[in-house]
Amino acid sequence: MFNQVAARYDLVNALASMGQDSRWRVEVTQALAPQRGEVILDLAAGTGASSEPLKADGAVVVSADFSLKMVGVGHERYPSHVYVAADALRLPFSDCAFDAVTMSFGLRNVADPRKALREMYRVVRPGGTIVICEFSSPVSDLVRPLYGLWLDRIVPLISRVASSNSPAYTYLSESILAWPSQHRLASMMADVGWTDIEWRNLTGGIVALHRASRP
Ligand SMILES: C[S@@+](CC[C@H](N)C(=O)[O-])C[C@H]1O[C@@H](n2cnc3c(N)ncnc32)[C@H](O)[C@@H]1O
Repeated sequence: MFNQVAARYDLVNALASMGQDSRWRVEVTQALAPQRGEVILDLAAGTGASSEPLKADGAVVVSADFSLKMVGVGHERYPSHVYVAADALRLPFSDCAFDAVTMSFGLRNVADPRKALREMYRVVRPGGTIVICEFSSPVSDLVRPLYGLWLDRIVPLISRVASSNSPAYTYLSESILAWPSQHRLASMMADVGWTDIEWRNLTGGIVALHRASRP
């Protein structure tokens, strides 16, 4: 599916999020607070848009994704990024290889999120950090129905006009609605060993940023 949407992925993202995506990426960078020379794995990096702001702060970023088309588009857009074709469920990296790992809008899409969280734990050094940026549950009772309408009606409309594969965006809405709440994701992270788990709601909880450490 991601191979099919790769060409217009960033455009549809910007439209469907009403431009909020760039603000969310700034928040991810602030949550990671990358130090010069740190090695960060951006998992499910897609076209590399999530890796770009991390690099700007001087970190060494490895952008990994299993869609070769997404990686290909990324390689044209950001030729200086380090891209690795990798499955989040079986990462081709040794234990404790990274100072931090991050995943933006990827965890919801992997076949086994718990296994991906376990793999991320394995490749981060003790004391290292994980930051997950993912769609979540709006906190306001007023916003929730409006957001449901946005996902049901407007996002498919935008994708019909702007995307190369509009059925993929039906999946987008369905997967967001089926995804666990802020609390449930935090307890999934705790189950596989992550500690000091905290989260921040962005755009009223439409997106949540979970941060934790490997003890
Ligand atoms: C919605 S995109 C997010 C891309 C990027 N992180 C961003 O914020 O724009 C989700 C990405 O997850 C990748 N993905 C899904 N399952 C994966 C897996 N098991 N291993 C690696 N990448 C995966 C897809 O190929 C896709 O590029």
